[in-house]
Amino acid sequence: MKTVWITGGGSGIGKALALLMVAHGYKVYISGRTLEKLQQVGAGTHPVVCDITKTDEVKDALDQIGHVDIAVLNAGGYEPGAVKETSLDSFRKIMEINYFGAVTCVLALLERQVKHIAVVGSVAGYRGLPNAAGYGPSKAALISFVESLRTELHGTDTKVQLVSPGFVKSPLTDQNDFDMPYIIEPEEAADEIYKGLQTDQFEIAFPKPFVRRLKFVRLLPYKYYFPLIKKVTGS
Ligand SMILES: NC(=O)c1ccc[n+]([C@@H]2O[C@H](COP(=O)([O-])OP(=O)(O)OC[C@H]3O[C@@H](n4cnc5c(N)ncnc54)[C@H](OP(=O)(O)O)[C@@H]3O)[C@@H](O)[C@H]2O)c1
Repeated sequence: MKTVWITGGGSGIGKALALLMVAHGYKVYISGRTLEKLQQVGAGTHPVVCDITKTDEVKDALDQIGHVDIAVLNAGGYEPGAVKETSLDSFRKIMEINYFGAVTCVLALLERQVKHIAVVGSVAGYRGLPNAAGYGPSKAALISFVESLRTELHGTDTKVQLVSPGFVKSPLTDQNDFDMPYIIEPEEAADEIYKGLQTDQFEIAFPKPFVRRLKFVRLLPYKYYFPLIKKVTGS
């Protein structure tokens, strides 16, 4: 039986993926900071409390779990808002969870020679967006980190993947007060991630129609990019 460790497995995408992987016969360990949330997932998942911003807790969690076949580094935080309404503490907190938290996990996994690491970024990291100056840069940094890791480990027996979701209904996106194009349910996201994990492709990006548009937008020069963003978001 293969073992998977999913951080942020107590809700949203991580929870849906945990349940799907249990159904596919994996031994599934889920982590987060809140034990009750992890326990409520049930269905044979194994809760391991761990704050990914604390190196000791990450190492303790991995010691408890033992051998890991696949790690899905999915834990993340989000605090939307305009730059001038966002505190420095908030910028730091999101970077600490989304970027340094994931890096902490990667370093601990490499130390234990885990052979398959999938890191959940976001299409929000592709380019700068209004009201996302805390979240976007944390995911942009993470994308760049995972790309570096892929360049360094390609050709070895360690597989590195980047998961790039569009909008997925979850407690995280429940904070948004705008219409989210192409939003999908966490179960659909889990299905995409599960299928992607079985492949050798680097990026697991979904939903496809949204991603195709964003990949095009990513290439636009600023003189076209900013007017387009203003038209779509009003900012
Ligand atoms: N939903 C979307 O539209 C969307 C789109 C693109 C990317 N993503 C990414 O997908 C991932 C999952 O998000 P989601 O939408 O499923 O949101 P979610 O339901 O809020 O899940 C995030 C999970 O991360 C855990 N977490 C937060 N900080 C943590 C920390 N310091 N240590 C350990 N666990 C921590 C939370 O549990 P505790 O609070 O109990 O620790 C929570 O269960 C995130 O990385 C997010 O950025 C989401």
